[in-house]
Amino acid sequence: MAHSDPLKGEITVPGAKNSVLKLMAAALLADGVYELSNVPRIDDVDIMSELLTHLGLRIEKRDSLEPELDGQKLRIVNSGNISTVAPFEVVDRIRASVNVVGPLLGRFGEVDIALPGGDDFGGRPIDIHLRGLEAMGATFIFTDEGLIGRTTGLHGADIMLNFPSVGATENLIMAAVCAVGTTRIANAAREPEISDLCLMLRSMGADIQGDGTQQLVIQGVAQSSLQSTTHTVVSDRVQAATYMSAVAMCGGDIHVKGAVSGHMEMLISRFKDMGMKITPTTDGLQVCREGRLSAVDISTLPYPGIATDYKPLLVTMLAVSNGTGVVTENLYPGRFRYIEELRKFGADITIDGHHALVRGVENLIGAVVHAPDIRAGAALVVAGLAASGMTEIRDIHHIDRGYDDLVGRLARLGASISRVH
Ligand code: EPU
Repeated sequence: MAHSDPLKGEITVPGAKNSVLKLMAAALLADGVYELSNVPRIDDVDIMSELLTHLGLRIEKRDSLEPELDGQKLRIVNSGNISTVAPFEVVDRIRASVNVVGPLLGRFGEVDIALPGGDDFGGRPIDIHLRGLEAMGATFIFTDEGLIGRTTGLHGADIMLNFPSVGATENLIMAAVCAVGTTRIANAAREPEISDLCLMLRSMGADIQGDGTQQLVIQGVAQSSLQSTTHTVVSDRVQAATYMSAVAMCGGDIHVKGAVSGHMEMLISRFKDMGMKITPTTDGLQVCREGRLSAVDISTLPYPGIATDYKPLLVTMLAVSNGTGVVTENLYPGRFRYIEELRKFGADITIDGHHALVRGVENLIGAVVHAPDIRAGAALVVAGLAASGMTEIRDIHHIDRGYDDLVGRLARLGASISRVH
């Protein structure tokens, strides 16, 4: 890719990775035929499909006539013949594989699973998942291969999470859907993707209240009363933010169709503080940047705070802003590995514990860099668009895990970018 002129035009935001993977796992809960639409074409959907196929679901992809507008559809058939053993070679490739634990324990009372993989930001424990499930009547043992969970039947429980973990909240909701009695989850995560999961589960017959707040109440229903459903995946706020930050870096004026301002309020407010002009439209956001960006300080927090997944984009924007910004990472202390790559563009960034001090420079210079994970990979792409000269991004398989045609969408906005393999 090479330095890009200001971007213009419109892109449509695909469905959210961090929703669809959990929606797919929810199909374990009831027999029948499911249809998910607005499914992003990303590698993690394929990996999750592989895992669920091992467990006995049948999954077919169907491209729509206008893939950029509608994404793809997934047809998932659950014929009731489900294995509760999740093979190591697939589980190891994706963090969201841990989300089969709740449905399998809730419906079948057993699960054997390797410890989940995913991006390497340092330790990614699952103690909050397990403690909640134990309160509902499950027992776990760790083996050389992974984790074995058993229960003679889950029951409702009052659970207080010691951190609003996204994955734990989702697992506990799915486990509680057909547990006996009422489950109350306090300090629950509130991300829009959790509300999307609850929306789908309710249309399957689940009784869930309070999603989008810190207090969830799930009244267990008989498993036999659950049914399959159709559902449209919520749009991806991190992909939306990526196109917004591309405009921040290159200048220009674009329409980000499908971006939901109510899901990104805090981020939009920080983008505005940095000098961007963002206006809601009937079906998205109009995003414009004219003068130089101004530096701000940023702290990542659980939703509705600034998501850790936005942080590499924000650090990249600060790298060319006027002034100095301090970025504090509160979720994954190890999530600064891409800083070394940003420095290759001439960015002036110093790390101190979980803080990054970013001193804005006038211009970035093209470089050869390696994508260390999904979000950092996308941020390096955005940096490369603004850098003078040529940039080459390697290890782009990380980006493909979570971005649906990033290169094509940016090129359609006028960016000077192509894929060379
Ligand atoms: N944590 C624990 N114990 C647990 C669970 C989490 O200590 O049992 C800690 C984690 O180690 C981490 C923090 O709590 O420090 C947050 O973890 P959380 O469980 O909320 O995250 P997750 O469910 O594993 C999802 C997304 C991530 C995103 C985080 C935070 C999926 C598949 N992944 O992970 O997305 O960063 O929430 O918002 O939904 C990405 O999309 O690139 C990505 C990494």
